[in-house]
Amino acid sequence: MPLLVKNARIVTATADYTADIYCERDTITRIDRTIDQWTLPPCDILDAAGLITFPGFIDPHVHVYLPFMGTFAKDTWASASRAALLGGTTTLVEMICPARADDPVSACDLWRSKARESVCDYSFHMGVTRFDERTPAALKQIVDSGITSFKVFLAYKGALGIDDHELFDTLRLARELGVVVAAHCENEELVALLQKQLLAAGKTGPEWHEPSRPAYVEASGVHHLCAFAEATGARVYIVHTSCEPAVQEARRAAARGVRVDVEAVIPHLTLDRSYAERPDFDGAKYVMSPPLREKRHQEALWRALAAGDVATVATDHAPFDFATQKSMGKGDFTKIPNGIPSVEDRVNLLYTRGVCEGRIDLHTFVRVASTNAARILGLSTKGDIAVGLDADLCLYDSNHRGVISATTHAMQTDYSAFEGFELKGRPRHVVRRGEIVVRDAALVANPSQGRLTPRVRTG
Ligand code: URP
Ligand code: ZN
Ligand code: ZN
Repeated sequence: MPLLVKNARIVTATADYTADIYCERDTITRIDRTIDQWTLPPCDILDAAGLITFPGFIDPHVHVYLPFMGTFAKDTWASASRAALLGGTTTLVEMICPARADDPVSACDLWRSKARESVCDYSFHMGVTRFDERTPAALKQIVDSGITSFKVFLAYKGALGIDDHELFDTLRLARELGVVVAAHCENEELVALLQKQLLAAGKTGPEWHEPSRPAYVEASGVHHLCAFAEATGARVYIVHTSCEPAVQEARRAAARGVRVDVEAVIPHLTLDRSYAERPDFDGAKYVMSPPLREKRHQEALWRALAAGDVATVATDHAPFDFATQKSMGKGDFTKIPNGIPSVEDRVNLLYTRGVCEGRIDLHTFVRVASTNAARILGLSTKGDIAVGLDADLCLYDSNHRGVISATTHAMQTDYSAFEGFELKGRPRHVVRRGEIVVRDAALVANPSQGRLTPRVRTG
């Protein structure tokens, strides 16, 4: 049934105005100051008065199906996508992470089969964890199927990480195919050496995770990637940038013509290193890579967002239970599964800590949580509210006051990294391609209605 959204205060990356929005099938077909419902065929009606109507939010970096560090991430596509919708996110982009020995096309098929139970729309970055003579044909086939970005890890030595020859070949192929390459940037040799040194000194708790991957290790990874991007002409997208020196490296590269965009993630914007220093192994809940940093880096990231030096805010949602999974690293911090669950919380935390506390304005909020991800990753039907685009809308209640808790969240983990954090706003209604999927902050989506969203090449 068509949908009419009445009295919407529409806020996009560039505009703020009031209008009615008419959606037919998947698409926005009319935006007018007033649309008279009696002139229309029977339709659903949502009254958006008193709310802010944003474009559906896009999370450009999540892990859902993730075999990693000897275990599997905790969510399924059903649970992660439900949590995403409740949090206002209508599109997720997941990393396909094959093991080095895996065939890329089979891996792609496996990840796509898992996502079929999604209730939100989705796409993927194709992880390149090996590059040999068979890789170009496989990657071309995957790109032709609509997955128009690659992902490489300059990290996790001996597991997902690739060497410099493979990096060069991946970037060269990406340039040739016109796709963007997402990259986790650290100096993996240095990480391995520092880990060894710390463990040998008896420094085994989660509080040593950050010292094993200090800011200069990340900046070194960014510098390295940008040199390879410069050599090949590839377009790169640096994921989960956590600290000022890493942002500066990317900024310097951009100034000399490297095509580079930078992503921040909500844990780095809202949590700091002291969380990983909590006693009795509680710090393990906060172990992710790059690690949570000293507080001063948070403000630097917020400033970079406001200035446009950081283009997107993702989650890097990587959910592991505390009791049974994080505990694998008791006595050796290098064995704590890396990752923090946050797919449900990103939009609300960004609004509360960013907009309400005056760090970013409403347009920047939309730009970094939706529009820029669509632009960089070629999600050409998403990221804005306009006639002809997908009818993905988040009707946001900025008067809501609430508190995050694992006892009420929809993610499947046994803890929340943001337990007790206050929220000043939440989605009241969410629309995915013209269908109401969250009504009055409760999920009403039919199962498995998410779709692989079409993409154009942006590399
Ligand atoms: O700690 C993290 N970030 N875990 C997920 C895998 C990755 O590096 O993105
Ligand atoms: Zn990563
Ligand atoms: Zn990640």
